[in-house]
Amino acid sequence: MDYFPIFLKLRNQHCLVVGGGDVATRKVASLLAAGADVTLVATDLASQLAEWAMEGKIVFVPRKFVSTDLCGKRLVIAATSDSALNLQIFREAEAIGVLANVVDDPDACRFITPAIVDRSPLMIAISSGGKAPVLSRLLRQKIEILIPATYGRLAGFAGNLRARVKSRITSPGARRRFWESILEGPVSEKVFNGQDSEANALFDTSLEQQVQSQARPQGEVYLIGAGPGDPELLTLKALRLMQQSDVVLYDNLVSPQVLDLVRRDAKRISVAKKKGCHTLSQADLNRELIRLAGEGNRVCRLKGGDPFVFGRGGEELVALVEANVPFQVVPGISAANGCAAYAGIPLTHRDYADSVTFITGHRKNNGDLDIPWFSLVNNRQTLVFYMGLSSLRLICEQLQSHGLALDTPAAAVQQGTLENQRLVVSRLCDLASDVESAQLCSPTLIIVGQVVQLAETLHWFGKPARASNQTDDASGNDLPEAIPLFAHAHSFSNNHSAGEA
Ligand SMILES: C[S@@+](CC[C@H](N)C(=O)[O-])C[C@H]1O[C@@H](n2cnc3c(N)ncnc32)[C@H](O)[C@@H]1O
Repeated sequence: MDYFPIFLKLRNQHCLVVGGGDVATRKVASLLAAGADVTLVATDLASQLAEWAMEGKIVFVPRKFVSTDLCGKRLVIAATSDSALNLQIFREAEAIGVLANVVDDPDACRFITPAIVDRSPLMIAISSGGKAPVLSRLLRQKIEILIPATYGRLAGFAGNLRARVKSRITSPGARRRFWESILEGPVSEKVFNGQDSEANALFDTSLEQQVQSQARPQGEVYLIGAGPGDPELLTLKALRLMQQSDVVLYDNLVSPQVLDLVRRDAKRISVAKKKGCHTLSQADLNRELIRLAGEGNRVCRLKGGDPFVFGRGGEELVALVEANVPFQVVPGISAANGCAAYAGIPLTHRDYADSVTFITGHRKNNGDLDIPWFSLVNNRQTLVFYMGLSSLRLICEQLQSHGLALDTPAAAVQQGTLENQRLVVSRLCDLASDVESAQLCSPTLIIVGQVVQLAETLHWFGKPARASNQTDDASGNDLPEAIPLFAHAHSFSNNHSAGEA
């Protein structure tokens, strides 16, 4: 974050604008709208500024800027066409701690002015940090359309009742929930329709009901699939529940981009399982969910991918049922779906695969892989191995020794759907070595089957297809980049007969 977003209270505060043209006019207009006392220093005046000066709305000083103009000012905006003068104003303001902004010169700004959507008292500010003001304006237009003008009235209505609600509902969580029900329920509709007395009556009834039922708020757990990483793959329901949760317990597979979408002031608890670190056992985690919900929290249990696909979601729900804790389940896009889609590998295809099987490559405590290999040896079946990276060589060997053709197309996708997705496309007999030389790391998903050959034509996301023997000198990165080995893929034929089960 390059800028700390704040809203300044400038009512009756002395502010200086230097320059008398159209840009200065816009800046003065904004300052006047915020109730500031504006002094304008300029040699020439645009007509609107002259009018404001005549009406006494601003103090006009008809001369060039001098250093003492800054004395006693909260902030200054330099909007002259003389860049040397603008810079001088910025430096002098910095020296005495006056907030300074030089129009269209981000380097000479202590603060920048965002694009705003004004639904006073509700105010939405958008900034690109001075990098792309046009983008900010385009976004503002979209938000303008999304947020009806009446939202300002709703914000004013809520503002008048805030102190009363605070004194009647003491728990911050209960208070927030009450406000959510008001701002999204029938009371807000009455406000939008201008029916203020009906809105007030309905509000009074709701507040009394809330106060009566305050004794023991009922918590709830939302078991939410966060998808494979790209935040745009979240469902609308996941986003809504994430935004209304009081506390979130998340796994290490949940991407930071997704975590960013959780309500800002929700408590975040990592329950990531890290090698060599003491982490919560599943039983402790279940107890923690029950405890938090028992305290009346809306608990978001956020899991990578889908909670019911190798996610232990079922185990956690059984514990909740036994403890009588209400819950909701929100499915997520599982790694198989996300990685396959972003790698251009359809999991089924009329020409290549009639079925798809999800398999865990996680070894048991004794180091064995407990997999029914014979059932997997079918040339028209796609195999997807989760947690298979560390057992990859064993998996490939077992599939071959049970009869799957050596040249069966096979791929590995690391951090699928994220910006840094890496893809290795190979064949069964080479995949383990190719993945090793590409130094893929967790999380990685393995896909085996004839559908993998389609990646060559359907690849659309991330780095384009490259042969493994090309190096990326320009990147300066020691790791090999995405390595689809289409040299092998080209030799694939569709009529492998080995191991049809
Ligand atoms: C414990 S499983 C969780 C699966 C998750 N519930 C799902 O539905 O995707 C973890 C494994 O999922 C796979 N995985 C999850 N996200 C991935 C991603 N973005 N890219 C590649 N593999 C991923 C990896 O094989 C990883 O070892």
